[in-house]
Formats: sequence, C-alpha cells, structure tokens
Amino acid sequence: MRHLLSPMDFTTEELDKLFDLANDIENNPAKYAHACDGRILATCFYEPSTRTRLSFESAMLRLGGQVLGFSDAGSSSASKGESVSDTIKVISGYADICAMRHPKEGAPMVAAEKSDIPVINAGDGGHQHPTQTLTDLLTIRSLTGTIGNFTIGLCGDLKFGRTVHSLIHALERYEGINFIFISPQELRVPDYITEELKANNIPYEEVTNLETVMPQLDFLYMTRVQRERFFNEEDYIRLKDFYILDTAKMELAKPEMLVLHPLPRVNEISVEVDKDPRAAYFKQAKYGVYVRMALILTLLELV
Ligand code: CP
Repeated sequence: MRHLLSPMDFTTEELDKLFDLANDIENNPAKYAHACDGRILATCFYEPSTRTRLSFESAMLRLGGQVLGFSDAGSSSASKGESVSDTIKVISGYADICAMRHPKEGAPMVAAEKSDIPVINAGDGGHQHPTQTLTDLLTIRSLTGTIGNFTIGLCGDLKFGRTVHSLIHALERYEGINFIFISPQELRVPDYITEELKANNIPYEEVTNLETVMPQLDFLYMTRVQRERFFNEEDYIRLKDFYILDTAKMELAKPEMLVLHPLPRVNEISVEVDKDPRAAYFKQAKYGVYVRMALILTLLELV
C-alpha cells in the first residue's frame, strides 16, 4: 500500500506516468467514467478548502466512485478530542482511500502510519502540499510541453506558503531550474530550503523587488500572504499587500511568461490580469482535477 505524503514520494519517472495518465483522462474522460465504481474516497479536512477538497471529490465522482467526509474539524469528533490516529483507523473501515488536510505539520504522516488505506496529504500546516505540486507540475508540462530549463519567480509569502515549499522540493529534481525568491524580508523562504539548494548547487537568488526581475522570468508563481499562520494581525496587515501584480507589471514580463497561483487569491493579483493570456491560474485549478483522478487510480492500483 502506498501513500502520498510528500512530492518526493514519486520518482520523476513515476510523475511522468502520472501526468501522461492525467492528460489521457483529460482527453478521454468517458474511458475512466467507471474506473472507481464501488470505491469510496474519504475527505478529512481539519482546515478550510475549496479547490483541494472539491477537486478530490470531483475526481472521485468523475471516476464513478463515491465520497464521504468532513470539511471542518468542528463537525468531526476531533472537537471531542479524538486523535488523528484513531480517526484514520475508523475511516479505514468506511472508505478505500483518504485525502487529509490538517493544520498540524506531519498529521497526515501520523495518520498514514496507522492507516489500512492509502492516505494523501492534502496540505499539512505550513509544511507541504504535495497534490498542489502535482497540479503545478502538470500545468507547466501541459502548457509548455516539458518541465525543466526555466527561471521561476516565487513571489509573496515564502515562509508559510506550503505550496511553495513543496514545489521547490519537486523542481530540485529537474534539469536547469533557476529559482528567484521574491518576498519581504520577514517572509523569506525557510533556511532549510536554501541550505538544501546550496548543497545541491541549484542556483537561486533572493530579492524583494518584483519589477526588476520580471523580465527574466519564464514562470511567476504568485502566492497570498497566509493570514492564518501569522501570530499577530498587525504584521499581517503590514505585509498583506506588499506585492500586487497588475497590468503595468505584466508589461515588463516576457510575452510567453506564465502566471501561476495555487489560489485562493486575495489582493496579490489584480482581476484585470485575468484577461491576459499569460494568466494560467484558473487553468491550473482545472488541472487539479485530472491529476487527482490520476493519483486516485494510481494509489488504488487500478491502472
Ligand atoms: N490551492 C489550495 O490548496 O486551495 P484550497 O485551500 O482552496 O484547497
């Protein structure tokens, strides 16, 4: 039995197979419409979500399976003090696979140790968000034909943004990736990540000014400031609008640069940018369904 707890749990060859499957599902949905008949996905979300939970549910329903679960800890027996370990033991008897989001880093790993069914980390605190990374990589590959040999700017809250941490890890394994980290000083990418990049001779630079690096970028990965991870509201208010991508800044970018964002967006991308053909973030959200369909089939060993 296999889980997905970190984006590194799959080799790059396995990821290629997963993305081939996701593209096949996108092009031939009818072929997969009954692939999960009789199977049940549990979505155990101890933190809010729109995309991750609903795209998992959409994925299972589109595969012919069924879904059950909870969308906030307060409506589950976690509110009575039940542990994640006990919850997953019980859920193992109710479902065939579980996607879990939790505010505590490592909670899905703890669950996986006690689980009789595959567990998917759907985001754990400020740590990792592996299925968002699968979505990001599939988007990059589907829209450009390959993953590698590009400069990516990651902009915003690089300290608490788990999607950023997961994506950097995953991209470290591809050839020719040049990272530019764009953040206020207080929201810099954690040291353990820059130390890993240094140890592996992977080029990166850290800057605070978005405009000056815009012309270099092949991808701009925008992120929101993660209000829920701040210790005080004052700091959040001071930093929340540090970066706002607008049409004036887009004029500085390459004609083929793509803008990605895991969403939800708050103010960091003006809605006027949505009309720019380089804005790829809503397409990206849709790729999240195909890649989660491919992941469910893979972990249930149905392909
Ligand atoms: N990208 C993402 O994880 O969005 P949700 O928080 O809405 O699931």
